[in-house]
Amino acid sequence: MSDSEKHVSKRTCVKSKRSRFILATVALIVIIAAVVPSVVVTTLKKNSMGPKAKVFVPLYIYPAPEAWAPLENVISTHPNVNFTVVINPGNGPGPDSLPDGNYTREIPKLTAYDNVRVLGYVYTSYGKRNVSAVRKDIQTYSDWPTNSSNPNLAVRGIFFDETPQQYDAQTLTYLQGLTDFVKDLKDLGPDRFVVHNPGAVPDSRYLATADSTVVFEAAYTTFQEREGAKLFTNIADSNRTQLCAIVHSVPESVEGKHLRSLVKQVRKVAEEVYITHLSTDYYASFGGKWTEFVDLMAA
Ligand SMILES: *[C@@H]1O[C@H](CO)[C@@H](O)[C@H](O)[C@H]1NC(C)=O
Ligand SMILES: *[C@@H]1O[C@H](CO)[C@@H](O)[C@H](O)[C@H]1NC(C)=O
Ligand SMILES: *[C@@H]1O[C@H](CO)[C@@H](O)[C@H](O)[C@H]1NC(C)=O
Ligand SMILES: *[C@@H]1O[C@H](CO)[C@@H](O)[C@H](O)[C@H]1NC(C)=O
Ligand SMILES: *[C@@H]1O[C@H](CO)[C@@H](O)[C@H](O)[C@H]1NC(C)=O
Repeated sequence: MSDSEKHVSKRTCVKSKRSRFILATVALIVIIAAVVPSVVVTTLKKNSMGPKAKVFVPLYIYPAPEAWAPLENVISTHPNVNFTVVINPGNGPGPDSLPDGNYTREIPKLTAYDNVRVLGYVYTSYGKRNVSAVRKDIQTYSDWPTNSSNPNLAVRGIFFDETPQQYDAQTLTYLQGLTDFVKDLKDLGPDRFVVHNPGAVPDSRYLATADSTVVFEAAYTTFQEREGAKLFTNIADSNRTQLCAIVHSVPESVEGKHLRSLVKQVRKVAEEVYITHLSTDYYASFGGKWTEFVDLMAA
């Protein structure tokens, strides 16, 4: 073997050793690149948004043709998100046995979706409203499917507005009686779901009389203060599956990753969540970031 041959073969050997090393390194990188991100992404996806929550919609918008379309659109495009929708034809079901033609046309469209639970609005004046009048409202909702001969013109529970925060034994009995009344009405089935709206954290003795309680209905800045004070995690005898939170007046600047982090925070404290950037007439229309909010609820 000549020197040059030796040299060449040596070089070849080194070259091939090096190229094998490079090849192995590249292969490793390719494997890591293929496997790790998908693992990291799935882990992040699973953990980053916290527990799943339902979109809670106080739908106090009159159902003129197309007015509920922004809601229907997100319902149909997000089959994995559940929606709890409160309807309010006339400060309750209204005086007649059936609501007007716009409601009787639009409500069945909502109830046709599997991922929607419609609730009927009933006010209680902090437990002072005549209980017969409250029961009459509930009964009216319950009679809708029979009275209209349309099984889809129906609600699956009641949203009791203006429930008290302060404990009072008589009021607790009043509310428990109304819950029992709802639970006995088979036309409110299968859920017969009961939500209370004290608008803030009530005496914890009330919590068990509802399936869910709105413990927060206020502005974004207030939410930030309460969240900082750990108010939500300290609610006695409760857990997030029984809680609903409504955050309105979210500044327009809270979008993108900031909105993402807000949705994540609220999902952590409540099973039912509504977030809107509207700062006046919060429930009279859908805010500009409505779809973005629902996308984040699906994440
Ligand atoms: C949505 O509702 C369905 C049917 O009730 C339930 O099985 C599912 O777990 C719910 N998903 C969420 C995210 O709440
Ligand atoms: C439905 O709403 C439209 C638009 O507000 C109104 O003109 C119409 O009279 C309503 N129809 C009924 C049956 O109330
Ligand atoms: C509640 O209303 C019913 C029916 O209108 C009436 O008979 C009853 O006296 C009222 N009860 C009270 C406490 O006002
Ligand atoms: C619907 O309610 C009205 C008023 O209460 C009543 O007159 C009518 O008989 C009811 N119709 C049905 C099919 O129940
Ligand atoms: C919270 O409520 C859910 C549903 O009722 C229940 O399964 C769970 O055990 C509760 N968690 C705690 C910590 O009480």
